[in-house]
Amino acid sequence: MEQMTLDPLYWAPITRFTRLRYLLSIYFTKLILTTGFLLRKLVIRFGGKSLSSGKPTLSKTYPCRPKLTHRVFFPKSYEAGKSLPLYIDVHGGGFAFGVPEHDDEFCHFFSNHFNLIVISVNYSLAPRVVFPVPSQDVAAVVEAILDDDSLPIDQSRVAIGGFSAGGNLALSASQFPALQGKIKAAIAWYAPVDWSVGYDYKCASRPYKNAKDVDGLAALAPIFNNVYLPTGTDQRDPLLSVLYADRKVLPPWIYSIGAEYDMLCDESRRMMVKLAGIEKLTESEKYAFEREGGKLRWTMVKDAKHSFTHWWLRAPKVAALRKPVAEEMFMEAGKWLTEQAFAE
Ligand SMILES: *[C@@H]1O[C@H](CO)[C@@H](O)[C@H](O)[C@H]1NC(C)=O
Repeated sequence: MEQMTLDPLYWAPITRFTRLRYLLSIYFTKLILTTGFLLRKLVIRFGGKSLSSGKPTLSKTYPCRPKLTHRVFFPKSYEAGKSLPLYIDVHGGGFAFGVPEHDDEFCHFFSNHFNLIVISVNYSLAPRVVFPVPSQDVAAVVEAILDDDSLPIDQSRVAIGGFSAGGNLALSASQFPALQGKIKAAIAWYAPVDWSVGYDYKCASRPYKNAKDVDGLAALAPIFNNVYLPTGTDQRDPLLSVLYADRKVLPPWIYSIGAEYDMLCDESRRMMVKLAGIEKLTESEKYAFEREGGKLRWTMVKDAKHSFTHWWLRAPKVAALRKPVAEEMFMEAGKWLTEQAFAE
């Protein structure tokens, strides 16, 4: 089938006043979040409940990005001398926030349930850097990890994945020439993948549980996007809008997971539909489908919101509700990875 080429669509400038307003709100939020996280650590130090049931086994820093430290998790059952498959995790936070530590609970769970080395990578954040620097960071760090002889990695079983912005970066980094043929599978958790459509379109594309509900992300998206994207960025650049990436430069196995009540759900589904070359989805396929013998897989988690996975960062009541849903999806994704993608 002939590929249709679309004209570039350029990210428009904003006024200096708007930019200042956005920068202030980003830095203010960073301050609040960093202070909150430090306080939480202090509470943990004095005997409070830890944010994760397992600590990383070690940490790694590579000369290509000396300021970035990555968290490495080995399963408890690890026997010295054996090589293991690798899953590289990229944290979320709208390209401006977040730290690898936020994913510790997931990394610990995934590593131990599926006997994987899991490495949660760090990358630089907006507004200090802009697109495509975070993608370049992730790609360079992944290359360094794969070249690291001190890690017992089974090079034929390497996967990458990430939450939200991290899911975007995972799919973006895997397109880099240096990583071609090295990454077998990717898992994108509620990732933004299309900047060629507007906020109204995105909000209208998802159902709302109650008519009164508003989309929290819709208010934040212009701020996130304008501090991440330099004026003139092609909104259809496949390193940004991975929906436009060529199937051939992406990992052969891709599992995309969306949340029903998320304005970013529809774009992940459209990406999978496009990759699979599907003309029209049936009603049930909107929730889940597989193509190419499971190589392309889509799941929309019912009754879930953006970030539904990170129960351990929530207050106890919300955490108790979300934990089973999150862990069920971690199991689903891990089984797909180890029993299908890595078993091929
Ligand atoms: C992770 O990266 C962020 C953004 O560049 C930086 O502020 C932070 O110090 C880094 N943390 C580690 C542990 O590398």
